[in-house]
Amino acid sequence: NIPVIAIDGPTASGKGTVAQKVARQLGFHYLDSGALYRLTALSAIRRGIAMNDEHGLAKSAEHLNCHFDGGHIFLANEDVSQAIRAEEVGNTASKIAVLATVRHALYGLQLSFRKAPGLVADGRDMGTVIFPHAPLKVFLTASVEARAQRRYKQLIDKGFPANMEDLSKDLRERDARDMNRASAPLKPAEGAYLLDTSEMTADEAVRQVLSWYAA
Ligand code: CDP
Repeated sequence: NIPVIAIDGPTASGKGTVAQKVARQLGFHYLDSGALYRLTALSAIRRGIAMNDEHGLAKSAEHLNCHFDGGHIFLANEDVSQAIRAEEVGNTASKIAVLATVRHALYGLQLSFRKAPGLVADGRDMGTVIFPHAPLKVFLTASVEARAQRRYKQLIDKGFPANMEDLSKDLRERDARDMNRASAPLKPAEGAYLLDTSEMTADEAVRQVLSWYAA
């Protein structure tokens, strides 16, 4: 019975950083499920698949030729770790994540990340849909302001252009799409611990998650 820690929450809530640190501390594997939606988006953009071609998008998800290696993400053997972080790719990912067919196509791939000694899974529906029996579920939140700040810093650090006004608007639009979609809407899973990280450092959030896990 391989343990899973499910960490869900809205865009730029700091889930990725926290989930990776928790995984490292415990020696667990890490699933960045958002990267799978971003990879699907990038693959579709590159192959010229129209955003209204649901069948084509689902096929892109189903035949995603990707692998994860030492923190790098590959699509058909090309390192796309940087390319998938572009805002355009994130926005496209958020739009195609609304499609139940796409979500369904990525289901098995996500389950396959669960390997001994354990998994930390980061996303929107880890606790509600993909790993509903996870022994620990956390719902990470932060204010729109804190999240826009974090996303701004992340983009600038990666050498992408960014401005706070556009980012706040983007965040609100993504929140609305994530929460209002019919398929796997973003919400805390049953039994999830809520953690507001607006005023917390990543390390403080990590300590809280680890102490819930140890309890
Ligand atoms: O960077 P951001 O937090 O916006 O997104 P991400 O975690 O990299 O995921 C990209 C997009 O995939 C998000 O906008 C979500 O709409 C979607 N997603 C999802 O629907 N379900 C997941 N388990 C993970 C991501």
